[in-house]
Amino acid sequence: MTGTQIEHTMNASTPEQPFLIFGSPLIEQAEIDEVVACMESAWLGTGPRVARFENDFARYQGLQSSQVAAVNSCTAALHVSMVAAGLEPGAEVITTPMTFCASVNAIIHAGLTPVLADVDPATQCIDPGAIEAAITPRTRAILPVHFAGRPCEMDAIMAIAGKHHLMVIEDCAHAIETTYRGRKAGTFGDFGCFSFYATKNVVTGEGGMITGRDEALIARAKVLALHGMSKDAWHRFGDRGYRHYQVVEAGFKYNMMDLQAAIGMHQLARVDRNRERREAIWNRYMEALAGLPVGLPAQPAPDTKHAYHLFTILVDEARCGISRDAFLDAMNAQRIGTGVHYLAVPEHPYYRQRFGWRPEQWPNAMRIGRQTVSLPLSPKLTDADVERVIGAVGAILAHKSGHGLR
Ligand SMILES: Cc1ncc(COP(=O)(O)O)c(C=O)c1O
Repeated sequence: MTGTQIEHTMNASTPEQPFLIFGSPLIEQAEIDEVVACMESAWLGTGPRVARFENDFARYQGLQSSQVAAVNSCTAALHVSMVAAGLEPGAEVITTPMTFCASVNAIIHAGLTPVLADVDPATQCIDPGAIEAAITPRTRAILPVHFAGRPCEMDAIMAIAGKHHLMVIEDCAHAIETTYRGRKAGTFGDFGCFSFYATKNVVTGEGGMITGRDEALIARAKVLALHGMSKDAWHRFGDRGYRHYQVVEAGFKYNMMDLQAAIGMHQLARVDRNRERREAIWNRYMEALAGLPVGLPAQPAPDTKHAYHLFTILVDEARCGISRDAFLDAMNAQRIGTGVHYLAVPEHPYYRQRFGWRPEQWPNAMRIGRQTVSLPLSPKLTDADVERVIGAVGAILAHKSGHGLR
C-alpha cells in the first residue's frame, strides 16, 4: 500500500489536521523583544549581544569566555577549528559515516582527508574499536559526533587520541546539554563545535560556537573566523576611537551577528527547561511504541546526560511490512513531518566518486541510514501533537504488521 492509499484509508472520517513541521523551534516573546531592541539599536553585526551570548554560553559549559568563539554555523566552527589546529595538508581525520555531510565537508575544506570508522549499532555513535582500526601513519585527528545528543565513548576516544597523539574535534551539533561522566561534551577534545541551526536545541536561525581548552587556539580560530583580522569591527567602530586592524592570515567570513545572538541569549536561558520537555516526549514515545516492531533508540547510558536532540526509530521492512521510504510518505500523508538522520555519508555520489567509498564498508551505518526515521521532538509539541504522532506510527504499522500500540 502506498502512503497516499494509507492516508485515504485512515483519514476517511477525520477533518484535515494542521501539518506538524519537523523540528519547529519554540520561539518566545523574550527573543522577539530582543531582536526588536537589537534592530532599534542599529547594531546588527558582531557586537555587544554576541559578546554576551559568548559569555552566557561559556558559563553554561563551565568555560572561560576566552575559551569560546561565536560563529555563523557549526559547519564554520568545524572548518575553522581544523584550520586553526594547523594539521598538515592531506592529514587524515577519522569521523563517523552516521553524520550530516557538514562534518565531512569541513574536513575536506580544511585540506584534510576524511576517513570513516563505523558506528556502534546500538548507540549509533562512532565505535572506538573502529577508530583504532582506521588509524594509519597519516592520522592526525578524530572528529566524533555526539549523535542525537548521546555522548560518544569519550574515555576510550581520548585514550586512543592520547596514545596516537591525535587532536580531537568534537561535533556537538546535537549536544549542547550533553555530559559524559559529569563533564560537558565539547570540553574533552581540543575543540567543540556547536550548532544553533533552526532545528537545534538552541536556535539562532543559523549560528554556531567553538569551544576549546587552549585559549591560544581559540584566539586563532576567532581571527580566522573574521577574515584573519586581528581586531573585530565592534572594536574598530566603537566609541573608543578608530583602531586599525591587521590581516594576519587569510581568514573566512564566519562571524555571528548580534541579530542572531539576540535570539540565542534567550534560547540558551531556557535550554534546560526545553530539554526537560523533550525528555518527557522521548519517554512517552519509548513507552507507547514499545510494542511495535520498530527499533527504538538505546536508553541513555549511566553517568551521562542525553541532550534528547533526536528521537529516531528504525523501520526494517522485513519486520514492519513497510519500507522506510514508504513509512516517511505515510507519515507525510498523515500531515506529520519527519526527518532522516542520516543516510550514511558513503551513500552520496560525491564521496563515492572522490574517495571510492561504498556504503557496505560501514555496514552498521548503512543499515541504520536505510532504516532510520526521526519523529518530531520539538519542545513546542503539545501532548495532543505527541499522541497524534504516536497514533499515526501505530496506525501505519498496524496496517502492515498487525502489531498494536501500548
Ligand atoms: C552532526 C552535525 N554536524 C554539523 C552540522 C552543521 O551545523 P550547521 O547547520 O550549524 O552548520 C549539523 C547540522 O545539521 C549536524 O547535525
